[in-house]
Amino acid sequence: MALRIVIGGDKAGFNYKQALRKDLESDDRVEVVEDVGVGDAEDDTSYPNVAIAAAERIAKGEADRALLICGTGLGVAIAANKVKGIRAVTAHDSYSVQRSVLSNNAQVLCMGERVVGLELARVLVKEWLGVQFDPQSSSAAKVDDICAYESD
Ligand code: RB5
Repeated sequence: MALRIVIGGDKAGFNYKQALRKDLESDDRVEVVEDVGVGDAEDDTSYPNVAIAAAERIAKGEADRALLICGTGLGVAIAANKVKGIRAVTAHDSYSVQRSVLSNNAQVLCMGERVVGLELARVLVKEWLGVQFDPQSSSAAKVDDICAYESD
């Protein structure tokens, strides 16, 4: 099933957001890409505002995944994780990107424009699109433990 993806970031992640959005838009595994900002490299909207807007789209069932870019990939992950039901990770290597979905059923991948090269980020996003969580896997019960804590 093709993915509905939200993309966003602050001005520190603007250049990568634009490049990665293009890649997502031309990928057959993606149904739609929704850009929640920022709209240009001078826009001072803070990273939490963008990250929370993206995460809320997923929490409401209006999107499947989000890709968030800031300077480090850290702030957007922290902010997105404040939205109930959201599991956001920062990852800049192939194994972690894959495991974020397979082990943690994370819906949100965060990266830092000041941390990872653009070409590596592009490869990682392609890999990310190719992995899907298996609810029958042994990881499912562990993710359920996170959800149980959250709904207490
Ligand atoms: C710039 O505001 C920078 O702090 C931000 O992009 C991000 O790296 C925060 O975690």
